[in-house]
Amino acid sequence: MKLSKEWRIGMKDMQQILPPPRNRGQLKKPTWIIVLLLLVCVFLVLSYIHPPQTSGSCYIFSASSCETFSSWLPPSFRVLSDDEIASSVVINNILNTPPIDSKNPKIAFMFLSVGSLPFEKLWGKFFQGHEGRFSIYIHASRDKPVHTSPYFVNREIRSDKVEWGTVSMVDAEKRLLANALKDPDNQHFVLLSDSCVPLRDFDYVYDYLMNTNISFIDSFTDPGPHGSGRYSQHMLPEVEKKFFRKGAQWFTMKRQHAVVVLADNLYYTKFRDYCKPGMDGSINCYADEHYLPTFFHMHDPNGIANWSVTHVDWSERKWHPKSYEKKDVSEQLLKNITSITESVHVTSEERRETMIMPCMWNGMNRPCYLFARKFLPETQDSMIELFSNYTTKQ
Ligand SMILES: *[C@@H]1O[C@H](CO)[C@@H](O)[C@H](O)[C@H]1NC(C)=O
Ligand SMILES: *[C@@H]1O[C@H](CO)[C@@H](O)[C@H](O)[C@H]1NC(C)=O
Ligand SMILES: *[C@@H]1O[C@H](CO)[C@@H](O)[C@H](O)[C@H]1NC(C)=O
Ligand SMILES: *[C@@H]1O[C@H](CO)[C@@H](O)[C@H](O)[C@H]1NC(C)=O
Repeated sequence: MKLSKEWRIGMKDMQQILPPPRNRGQLKKPTWIIVLLLLVCVFLVLSYIHPPQTSGSCYIFSASSCETFSSWLPPSFRVLSDDEIASSVVINNILNTPPIDSKNPKIAFMFLSVGSLPFEKLWGKFFQGHEGRFSIYIHASRDKPVHTSPYFVNREIRSDKVEWGTVSMVDAEKRLLANALKDPDNQHFVLLSDSCVPLRDFDYVYDYLMNTNISFIDSFTDPGPHGSGRYSQHMLPEVEKKFFRKGAQWFTMKRQHAVVVLADNLYYTKFRDYCKPGMDGSINCYADEHYLPTFFHMHDPNGIANWSVTHVDWSERKWHPKSYEKKDVSEQLLKNITSITESVHVTSEERRETMIMPCMWNGMNRPCYLFARKFLPETQDSMIELFSNYTTKQ
């Protein structure tokens, strides 16, 4: 908002250089008109260089005419820094590079866990018979996992501590992406937690993710305290408040997007330094919920779906989503989740505005979800028993 301040000072200075009123009468009419025209020109030029960025700078106009005024002006005025120019060139080049033509395209399943993965057996059932079309990566942040499925043996990458709510979560995601990108056959990258279960069979998931050119990254505007309320002005000038987005961290992304994430340092650094718990004294910002949703909204808004293919149930409206217990798991529950075709976002404002969007896949409305969380380990046997039932194509 530095700019608008300068602008306001500029206006004040201009008022001071205006001839005092008693002199006005002495000016001849044509001179007076020229002065007026000049003032209008100076005003327009100044507005062009320092566009009104906050409603505060619109004090000259009534609120509504201010909006009209901004819409007359070309959309972007800010002079980009060298870093921003470099960043946007790199990002656009990566996005415009055609995908590697792989003879054996695979999906990378990247598991973010503390230790052992309780659903290895269920995932084993999911992967069985599809060897060569997937690869698995595990980031176990604390304990060495004990494996119950051969697909997961020796798939751990070198990991580091992950502290809840801090950028170390994003670091772990980047570590997984880097390791998975080493294999040129990996074309799509899925981030999963240790409480995630598959909702579909392998072929369905493979087709859904591989036969589209978008990434399923959750991103929406939450004007409430747990959305834009977490924004810090320190992110200026690169990240303006109007671009700040929120979303669940459980993404799937295409290869170009995975490379873009590793190429970015500018925006990552902004979020690392200014989106953290206790920011500016009292703002609790969580980089893993804001960095990628904001970054992709700014750089490739049409390349992301804006919803996550991992279902989670927030309907109890508590601090944590519903955890499914053994008694909750039934064929009906899974059919219910797999038949959802609209994504729902609820803002954190007092009136809790709900935004409902049909899940569009290549222009078709399709079911939204491929995976679901949070399932307790005790549900595994029921899930295995039900797997062929609920994954049968409708
Ligand atoms: C996805 O592909 C279609 C056609 O193949 C193209 O029209 C569209 O622009 C692509 N979208 C993105 C985000 O690359
Ligand atoms: C995601 O949302 C942005 C606006 O926030 C929009 O421009 C874009 O088209 C959306 N993506 C898709 C695939 O609809
Ligand atoms: C499934 O959805 C129906 C209709 O919305 C609901 O009545 C039922 O309770 C749900 N069942 C489960 C197990 O979630
Ligand atoms: C699976 O579905 C079949 C028919 O749809 C049903 O007879 C069977 O009981 C189901 N199995 C389980 C474990 O629910």
